[in-house]
Amino acid sequence: MKPKKRDENEAARGKGGETHQIAGGDVPVLTTQQGTPVADDQNSLKVGLRGPTTLDDFQLREKIFHFDHERIPERVVHARGYAAHGYFENYEPLPDITSADLFQRAGEKTPAFVRFSTVAGNKGSADLARDVRGFAVKLYTQQGNWDIVGNNMPVFFIQDAIKFPDLIHAAKAEPDRDFPQAQTAHDNFWDFISLLPESMHMIMWAMSDRAIPRSFRFMEGFGVHTYRLVTADRKSTFVKFHWKPKLGMQSVVWNEAVKINGADPDFHRRDLWNAIQSGNFPEWELGLQLFDDKFADEFEFDVLDATKLIPEEDVPIKRVGRLVLDRCVDNFFAETEQAAFCTNNIIPGVDFTNDPLLQGRNFSYLDTQVKRLGGPNFTHIPINAPKCPFHHFQQDGHMAMINPKGRVNYEPNSWGGVEGGPRESPETGFHSFPAEEKGRKVRERSASFSDHYSQARQFYISQTKSEQRHIADALVFELSKVQKLAIRERLVSHLPNIDVKLANRVVKGLGLQGKVHAIASAVVPRQDLKPSKALSIALNPPKTFAGRKVGALVTDGVDSALLNALKLALETEGASVEIIAPTVGGVEASDGTRVVADQKIGGGPSVLYDAVAVLTSEAGARSLLKNGAARDFIADAFCHLKFIGWVNAAMPLLEKAGIVHDLDEGCIELTGAKSVAQFLAACRRIRHWKREEAVIS
Ligand code: HEM
Repeated sequence: MKPKKRDENEAARGKGGETHQIAGGDVPVLTTQQGTPVADDQNSLKVGLRGPTTLDDFQLREKIFHFDHERIPERVVHARGYAAHGYFENYEPLPDITSADLFQRAGEKTPAFVRFSTVAGNKGSADLARDVRGFAVKLYTQQGNWDIVGNNMPVFFIQDAIKFPDLIHAAKAEPDRDFPQAQTAHDNFWDFISLLPESMHMIMWAMSDRAIPRSFRFMEGFGVHTYRLVTADRKSTFVKFHWKPKLGMQSVVWNEAVKINGADPDFHRRDLWNAIQSGNFPEWELGLQLFDDKFADEFEFDVLDATKLIPEEDVPIKRVGRLVLDRCVDNFFAETEQAAFCTNNIIPGVDFTNDPLLQGRNFSYLDTQVKRLGGPNFTHIPINAPKCPFHHFQQDGHMAMINPKGRVNYEPNSWGGVEGGPRESPETGFHSFPAEEKGRKVRERSASFSDHYSQARQFYISQTKSEQRHIADALVFELSKVQKLAIRERLVSHLPNIDVKLANRVVKGLGLQGKVHAIASAVVPRQDLKPSKALSIALNPPKTFAGRKVGALVTDGVDSALLNALKLALETEGASVEIIAPTVGGVEASDGTRVVADQKIGGGPSVLYDAVAVLTSEAGARSLLKNGAARDFIADAFCHLKFIGWVNAAMPLLEKAGIVHDLDEGCIELTGAKSVAQFLAACRRIRHWKREEAVIS
C-alpha cells in the first residue's frame, strides 16, 4: 500500500485505519540507524495480512533492539536530579591564593554545568522528599574540568568513606520489601543512625528546613570537605567552598512538602526549567572560606572531619565570583543523565586534603561511572569532555569516539615533533601540594574526630524557635514511622547531648514513657559554642520576592483593575502570578476581558505558590462553596503560613475555608494599588511565622 500524502499536517490512513505521516518539503525522510529510508513505520513485516512476523524485518528488530537498551543504570545515589548549563564569572584575580587559571582574570567566564539532586530516592521519586540535595558543579576550565561535587548542607553523616555503603543501604528502601521510597522514615535508617553518634550534627541539618527546599534556586551549596588552594610557588591555603543563592534561601513546611509531592512531583525541576526558560537566570556567588595551618591547628575541631563546619563568624566568606545558569539542556539523557561528576576532577591550583571521606570519594565516583556509563570512555560524551585542548595516549575501549591519528600511542618516544604526540609540562602541569606525611599504618579513627555533639548543639541553638520546632517535629514524624521501640529510644538518647529541651519535646511527641537518658558520649559536649546566625534560614531572609510566584484564585467577574495592579507589582519585583480558575478555559473579568487560566482549581493547589490572592467575585465565591479544592486552596495557604491577599467579595469562601475569624496581619485585604503594595511588602517576608502558634496543635 502506498499511502497518499495530503498536506503537511494531515495524515494519510492505511488499510487498517492507522496514521501515516509522509515526508516531503522540509520534512526529512525517516531512516534506520544505518540510514536506510523507511517506507512504513506503522506495520511490521508479515507473511500475509494476518500472518506471522518475519525474521528478516531488520527495521522492526533494529527499532526494538535499540528501545530495549535505552536505559542505563541509574546513579546508585543521587539518582533523581536535574541540571542546567551556565557559566562562572570571576570577580578579581586571585594569584596570591591559587594558580587555578579560572581565578586569574577579572570578568572571565568559565562554562559550567550544574546538577541538583536528592540522595536516597530512585530516578522517578518525588522532588520534595525530606533529603539532602546534591549540588554538583562542573567547571570547564582552560586547565581541564574541575568538579565541585557538593551538597546543600555543609557537613555529612559519616567521617570515613568505608561507612558510605552502610549509610546508603540503611537510608534507601529496605531490601526485602523495596520501600519506603525516597524516605528516611523507616527502621533501617534510624537503627543505623542511632548507632552512629558522628551523624548527629548532620541529622540536625537533615531534619531541618534545609532538607525541604522551596527551589534549587533558593538553596546554598557547600563543597563540604576542606580542600587546598595552591599558588604558583606552592603556597597552600585551606579552603571550604560555599555557593550563596542570589535570591536568598527559602524552604517549604513539611505538610506542604507532602502535598507538593502529590500535586507536582516535578516541582523542583519544573521550577528550574521555567525560571531559565523565562530568562530569570538563577545565580549563586562562590564563597571561599580561607584559613591557614595555624587556624587549622587551633580550631576546636579537626578540619579533616566532614561532620564539622567552620562558622562564618570564625572565618568569613570571601565572595570571588558568580555562577549563573542560563541554558536548559537540549536532551535530558545526553546531558543530565550522562553527566559524570567526580571529586577527583581537579585542576592545577586546587588540591585535596587527607579528609578520609574525600579520599574514598575520589575512588568511588570514577569507579561507579565506569559501570554506569558502560566503559572507560565516558569523557568522550560531550557533556563530560573538557572544553580546553586535551591530548593523551589513552585509547580503545567500549564506544571510543575520539581516536588518535598516527602511529605513536606511547611515550617517551623518539618520533619527535607533532608526530611524537603530547609531552609533559613541568611548568603548566598539575603538581600535588608537597604535604609532609608520616605515621604508623593504622585502621583507626583519630581522637580529634570524637566530639559528635557540640556542633550539633551549635546548629540547633542557631535556629529560630520555629526552625527548632521543625527539627523536633521532623524527628517525631520520622521516628513515629519506626516500628521498633528500642530504635526510637536509642535515637532519642542522643538528643540530651544536643539540647535537653529538644530531647523532651521529641520524647513527648513520641509518647515515650519515662525519662530520657543521655547516651554516653566519647567527649563531653561543649555548651560554650556561640550561635551562628548564618546557619539559620529564617534569620537570613531574602529581602525580595523576586523569583517567587503568587497563585491568584479567580472566577468570572474578577476585578480586572485589581488583577492588573497585582500583576504589575509582582512583575516589577521580578515575581510572577499564576491564574487559577474553575476551568482552564479561564474567566471573564469585570470589564468583559478574558483572563486566561494557568491552572484549573485542584490542578493548582496553593502549595505550589509562595503566596496567594483570592480575587473571586461574590457570585464566583458562592459558586465555589462546595468545591473542596477551592476551600483547601485557602485553608492550606493559611496553615502553611502564607500571605493571603483577599477581596471582600470572597468572604463567603474564606468563611467556608474556616479562616474568617482568624484573619491576621498576614491576610491583607486587596482594594487597590496601595493595598497591593502592602501585600507585596509582606510577601517579601515569605511566611507569616507569627501565625504558626495558631495553626499547630
Ligand atoms: C561530603 C560527602 C558527599 C557529598 C557532598 C556527595 C555528593 C554527591 C553528589 C552531589 C552526587 C551527585 C552527582 C551528580 O549530580 O551526578 C553524588 C553521587 C555519588 N556519590 Fe557522593 N557525596 C558524598 C559522599 C560520598 C561518599 C563518601 C561516597 C562513596 C565512598 C559517595 C559516592 C557517590 C556515588 C557512587 C555517586 C554516584 C555517582 C554517579 O553515578 O555518577 N559519595 N555524591
